[in-house]
Amino acid sequence: MSWLASVITLFPEMFPGPLGQSLAGRALEDGVWSIRTHDLRAHGLGRHRAVDDTPFGGGAGMVMRPDVVDAAIGAATEGLDLPLVYLTPRGRRLEQADIRRFAAGPGVALLCGRYEGVDERVLEARAVEQYSIGDFVLSGGETAALVLLDACVRLLPGVMGSEQSGVEESFSDGLLEYPLYTRPAEWQGRAVPPVLLSGHHAQVEAWRKQQAEDATRVRRPDLWAAYADRTPQRNGLPV
Ligand code: ADE
Repeated sequence: MSWLASVITLFPEMFPGPLGQSLAGRALEDGVWSIRTHDLRAHGLGRHRAVDDTPFGGGAGMVMRPDVVDAAIGAATEGLDLPLVYLTPRGRRLEQADIRRFAAGPGVALLCGRYEGVDERVLEARAVEQYSIGDFVLSGGETAALVLLDACVRLLPGVMGSEQSGVEESFSDGLLEYPLYTRPAEWQGRAVPPVLLSGHHAQVEAWRKQQAEDATRVRRPDLWAAYADRTPQRNGLPV
């Protein structure tokens, strides 16, 4: 059986969206992975199929009802043993290690929130894992779900083909990737760093390592601190 994405959403037509194209799209056609959407509205209540209501305690916006969400989760996970993930800015930060764990399993069930969010009780009752893709607020969880799926699908066996060796470039060593250059060797007066044209493999590797470390230190002090903690030091610099 192929890797399964079981998606609970008010907007099923948003899937597979961009994941129907390119590498992920080919893998979908080839049956490497599959996607099922579950329309929350189908579990809505009353003539208007209501899925939300006003927050107890007052405040802006609407909250997704626990009974409706629970019924949708039941439909989306029936007979399946998948991790259940809710995409929310309140979640733990989604990291490559989480992606590796999801990709290594049978698939993932994704709950996409709209409005202000989901009633807390159904998240507790269903032991939902909560993840955020970054410290910004999207209009709904669907685009975050697409991000999570893209990151998982490219790790599935066969999806990257001959590029498989490059699957884990950034983050595998805790550093940002080194900068890339291709032809022409000079463009608009800008030359490619000469070491890359030198043919000295060891010097190229050393230069790339240095560039990766410099970029990480300047742009991502959080990653740099974790890297520096794990890496032997000489004069405060990695050796
Ligand atoms: N839903 C809304 N914003 C989100 C975010 N930053 N990450 C995950 N899900 C979200």
